[in-house]
Amino acid sequence: MTLDLFAATAPELEDEILDEGAVVLRGFAVAREAALKDAVARVSADAPFRHLVTPGGFRMSVAMTNCGELGWVSDRRGYRYDPLDPESGRRWPALPDAMRALARDAAARAGYPGFAPDACLVNRYAPGARLSLHQDRDEKDLRAPIVSVSLGLPAVFLWGGGERGDKTRPVALHHGDVVVWGGPSRLRFHGVRPLKDGDHPFAGALRINITFRKVIA
Ligand code: SIN
Ligand code: FE2
Repeated sequence: MTLDLFAATAPELEDEILDEGAVVLRGFAVAREAALKDAVARVSADAPFRHLVTPGGFRMSVAMTNCGELGWVSDRRGYRYDPLDPESGRRWPALPDAMRALARDAAARAGYPGFAPDACLVNRYAPGARLSLHQDRDEKDLRAPIVSVSLGLPAVFLWGGGERGDKTRPVALHHGDVVVWGGPSRLRFHGVRPLKDGDHPFAGALRINITFRKVIA
């Protein structure tokens, strides 16, 4: 065998089990990056990224937008899923096919066949942006998993326990990695450490995260 043979094929990346019902699908979205980049550009042209305010009055460091039937929003009144973009008063852009297919395929690979999200949150991290430890619990359908796609700059994802104070485990997420958590892991606390500066061909000095959820049971 020659070295060229090895160079010709990318190494197979292995799925990484985090806990029962939770897995990191390493590099799963890489082959679809062009379609995803296009989808994010179209969604954010229609519903621009914005920094939401928490119920406590803090401006979030992560900029967000949504597509699909429902969008996750936060303001002084609280968190909620809203069929309308509060900035425009119009419905959120439709979920692009490439996103719908990726969510379904990643969920199926993780053991959750038939995943059909009705909400898609797009998070944009600039250097320094972070997401504090939280649970995804505003959804009525807790049987469906969360599917979370990382694109662009790497980040450290914090995988916590069932209680806010539980120890967290740092998980490095790279371009194309997809984390899927559901079943007994569905309400795990999780967060993202402040993004480090860098440059990546996908989106320069940014990290894009696309999170798919099923809200209506
Ligand atoms: C989220 O919890 O909504 C986003 C997680 C991430 O950016 O990886
Ligand atoms: Fe979350």
